Amino acid sequence: MPNVLSEALDGYLTDLMPERDEVLTEMEEKANAERIPIVGPLVGRVLHQMAVLSGARRVFEMGSAIGYSTIWLARAVGPEGRIYYSDGSEQNANQARRFIERAGVADRVVIQVGDALELLEQTEGSFDLIFNDVDKHDYPRVFDLALPRIRRGGLLITDNVLWSGRVTQPSDDRWTSAIQEYNRKAYGTDEVWTTIIPLRDGVAVSLKR
Ligand SMILES: C[S@@+](CC[C@H](N)C(=O)[O-])C[C@H]1O[C@@H](n2cnc3c(N)ncnc32)[C@H](O)[C@@H]1O
Repeated sequence: MPNVLSEALDGYLTDLMPERDEVLTEMEEKANAERIPIVGPLVGRVLHQMAVLSGARRVFEMGSAIGYSTIWLARAVGPEGRIYYSDGSEQNANQARRFIERAGVADRVVIQVGDALELLEQTEGSFDLIFNDVDKHDYPRVFDLALPRIRRGGLLITDNVLWSGRVTQPSDDRWTSAIQEYNRKAYGTDEVWTTIIPLRDGVAVSLKR
């Protein structure tokens, strides 16, 4: 399915970006060749910028795959920061471990394998930023679980919230309706101030008040 941002604009913005380093470039090529759904450079840059703007030091990532978004976040939090990587696949985690080491940020990444929602519950403390990119049927539950774990002024960021535009139509599809519910929650409470950025497939940025 297409992204919500047109291919032309996506290409234009990506061309404006500085070249990524060898590791991120290799990951982008691998994701492209093997159809691994990573956030890509435009959204990676948003994640990095949001982490820097909010002064994030402690980050929990839900659905990390081969660690592409993890590396963008890890480079933003500095050497004293901590990123909790989580993914249900041991194979993904093994690949991520190698990329994260090569990217020079292994000292600040904790790799956890299992259900990201359970891992979040099991990991103590509050977070400056939680990034959510798990299977979409879990989005409403992620909103409820993640919000209390974020400090005031911290961020909940969720990918794919425009879902190739399918969110605009009433839908019986389980993933589409779950994303629609997530978006209603994100705009429907005074606990957060939410903006959806229509880059790639839509990124929701919710500031906890
Ligand atoms: C879209 S990919 C993540 C891409 C990654 N955020 C990036 O941009 O580099 C989604 C990943 O989440 C994992 N996943 C989906 N639901 C999960 C869950 N409930 N718990 C743990 N991992 C999950 C899948 O194994 C998959 O690797």
